[in-house]
Amino acid sequence: MNIIMIGTGYVGLVSGACLASLGHTVTCVDIDPAKIDSLEKGGCPLYENGLPELLKTTQKSGNLTFSLGLPESLEDADAVFLGVGTPQGDDGKADMRFINAAFGDVLPKLYPHTVVVTKSTVPVGTADRLLAWMKTDRPELPGHIASNPEFLREGTAVQDFLKPDRIVSGANTEHGTAVLKAIYQPLEDAGHPHLQIDPQSAELAKYAANAFLATKISFINEMAGLCEHTKADVGAVAQAMGMDNRIGKRFLRAGPGYGGSCFPKDTSALTHIAKEAGIPVQITQAAIDANTAAQERVIEKISNMTSLEGKTIACLGLTFKADTDDMRDSPALTILPALQAKGAHIKAIDPAGMSQAKKLLDITFCDSVATCLAKSDIVIMMTEWPEYTGLNPADICAMMNQHASIADLRRVWTPERLKQAGFKNTYVLGS
Ligand code: UDX
Repeated sequence: MNIIMIGTGYVGLVSGACLASLGHTVTCVDIDPAKIDSLEKGGCPLYENGLPELLKTTQKSGNLTFSLGLPESLEDADAVFLGVGTPQGDDGKADMRFINAAFGDVLPKLYPHTVVVTKSTVPVGTADRLLAWMKTDRPELPGHIASNPEFLREGTAVQDFLKPDRIVSGANTEHGTAVLKAIYQPLEDAGHPHLQIDPQSAELAKYAANAFLATKISFINEMAGLCEHTKADVGAVAQAMGMDNRIGKRFLRAGPGYGGSCFPKDTSALTHIAKEAGIPVQITQAAIDANTAAQERVIEKISNMTSLEGKTIACLGLTFKADTDDMRDSPALTILPALQAKGAHIKAIDPAGMSQAKKLLDITFCDSVATCLAKSDIVIMMTEWPEYTGLNPADICAMMNQHASIADLRRVWTPERLKQAGFKNTYVLGS
């Protein structure tokens, strides 16, 4: 199949490279000359496992090319994917500016056989809206529109694309359905199910999946708070829950709250969609509120360990999870300024997120774990990078000031192990 992918951000670039690796001819389009130039020269603008290699092989095979702006003609295109961002607008709704701009560019150049597919997460009703727009501006076109949401996690996006639990697509015509089936046939042949449903259900399925996973995390984070008060251990509770196949063990890791580019934005957008429809989604709203509360609880717990006035805190990890350089909605962005406001001086280190973090946090950035821990009174395990979880707590303690405290927000160690390591005050989230 011949595919145009608009947007070389996270969604567009990973999807474009993966589709090219399946044997399709893909042109990735962006309006940023510097980005296209760098991609054409073999650069990779994203921190993502396996992506640089995939870009190299697909460019070499000739299946993947880049274009600044749309190609001259779209005649050969079987499908045009919209993979541009849908960030959170000021009011919490999805900001559709980039989708509208991309669709507005494509529309005058569209051929009757080309299917327009939204890959970005878009509000329910977007396919209908784009179709109505198409019918008004190009009434002669048959109007093939589809939704094909992605379920990619940062850090494992390439693997998630090529070995998905399921592919979801929703086209409004038989031709659109057939084109999407052909595009994903190599993955179906490899045993990955492709669920073809209606566009509205495909659009909502993405929000519903993310809201459900966010709810699962918020649920276990509330249990973590309860565990801390009842001497229960949230790891044991999650294990007992997860062994029930009806519940499943994944996304039950308690922590400082979910962050990243999807869960906060998509849960917020879903509540707005529901509000406008007059059908409130109370459970999703509760998951959002519980996520805020999870971070507030962490701030309170650390503040209660020892007075923060004049103390130095060493923070290990800043990104919202390991294996990404993404700082968007990282819990560190809420927790660290709150601790600063209580009089603490913050030093931090992160293997990948420092350049983004420097724009967002006014703290001291360190270039080694040793300098971060030196002369610190409290250490926070913020992000579960193997570089930090693999450290021996006794070594951490030995590098810090005397009577040091530790807050383990990722449950790497037990309170007993931390006491044995020599820490005076210990807080292990959920224990
Ligand atoms: C998520 C979805 O998983 C993906 O399907 C969607 O397309 C985009 O959003 P991502 O944001 O990359 O992917 O990260 P994910 O690994 O899902 O983690 C999201 C957040 O939840 C992180 O802050 C992580 O630390 C937190 N989390 C995850 C937990 O606190 N506990 C868990 O058990 C799992």
